[in-house]
Amino acid sequence: MKALSDEKREQFAARRSAWTLSQFLHGEQGALLCCGQLVEAVPDMDGKLYAATQVVDEARHVEVFHRYITRLDQVYSIEPSLHAVLNAILEADLWQMKCVGMQVITESLAMGTFKSMKENTRDDLLRKVVELTAQDEARHVSYGLIYMKEELPRMSDPDRERVEDFALSAIRLLTTGGGGGADSSGGGILSSREAVYTEVGIDYDEAMREIGEKANDPEFADSGPRMFEDHVVPQLQRVGLVTDRVAPGYRELGFEV
Ligand SMILES: [Fe+2]
Ligand SMILES: [Fe+2]
Repeated sequence: MKALSDEKREQFAARRSAWTLSQFLHGEQGALLCCGQLVEAVPDMDGKLYAATQVVDEARHVEVFHRYITRLDQVYSIEPSLHAVLNAILEADLWQMKCVGMQVITESLAMGTFKSMKENTRDDLLRKVVELTAQDEARHVSYGLIYMKEELPRMSDPDRERVEDFALSAIRLLTTGGGGGADSSGGGILSSREAVYTEVGIDYDEAMREIGEKANDPEFADSGPRMFEDHVVPQLQRVGLVTDRVAPGYRELGFEV
């Protein structure tokens, strides 16, 4: 990376931002679809009305990220682990899994990432976009937390345990990649993330090694383990989904629960 010219460096920065924002865009599209499902699936009228307002919020988020990315560069394809988690949420048979997967896990992760981006970007427009989006996401996370705190104790033990397992497997997928989902990033060519690096002449494997060594550097912390430690796992603990039964699974992933 040190040998890059100023022009290449700028090109790389734009592509890297477009790649990150593309993942937001895919997440927002997933949220839009998931909330549409929740309008139908949640059992009470208040829950339906709230989910309907969230559909409108997510449609606005899809629009704003798409516009911003296409001015900057291009939309990159979805990362396999995110794709797998969004699919699992959309295909889940219990609406409580959808609510936990989207409102509690994915939206908490988005909020943490937006916060980091707001602090690190030098682009005023992007700062405003992520600030306003994060305000909406905070409401969505609160809805999930309040709703699930009431709902989980009402569930049968087997169903609640399925939600606990679902949450753990979503965290495993997002933090380790899960080793699957190879179908979603361009038919076995390059992952879109890899392409961002190789197209400007950066050795991807070497760059990943350097990033690994800079795990505490805020510039590289967007999707790092601290995001989960600080923003996602504590929310799962708050709603009571990190029970003694599943806690060893979280510890295996390196979380102190
Ligand atoms: Fe959103
Ligand atoms: Fe949201």
